Amino acid sequence: MDQAPDNMGEMSGADAVGTAGSGDCGDMLRMWIKFREENGRKVIDRATFQSFGCQTAVAVAGMATQLIRGKTPQEALSMTGEEMAAPLGPLPPMKIHCAQLVEGALKNALGAPAPQAPAPARSLVDSLTPRTGVKISFLNPSDETDQAR
Ligand code: FES
Repeated sequence: MDQAPDNMGEMSGADAVGTAGSGDCGDMLRMWIKFREENGRKVIDRATFQSFGCQTAVAVAGMATQLIRGKTPQEALSMTGEEMAAPLGPLPPMKIHCAQLVEGALKNALGAPAPQAPAPARSLVDSLTPRTGVKISFLNPSDETDQAR
């Protein structure tokens, strides 16, 4: 990533803070929100985030902080991770949970239940196979040794 995405970092004086973690990969994301009054309504003035997550989560979080500006909490709560990621293009199946991580942090900040994360898989193979249908072939360790010579 050549430059930091928009709105990355802690926000001092935030009105709301939410955190979500992914059972899939162990990544975490935190979002800070500041509200303002606009025409008698409480709307999101700005939002920032920090992520111990992959670049997809960082990109979706940066996009989400832009998309929720000026929305009421109810309007922001109605957005799904998929909608927040949409301007970035379709996510591959293995990256959908990254957008759900952002949605979870936003919902946590706004006091709503986070989306139900899938139960953690027992192994990497288990976590890939059921949802994606991806078949994984393991390298033969002796092949790696042969190539290293
Ligand atoms: Fe876990 Fe993207 S948030 S791989």
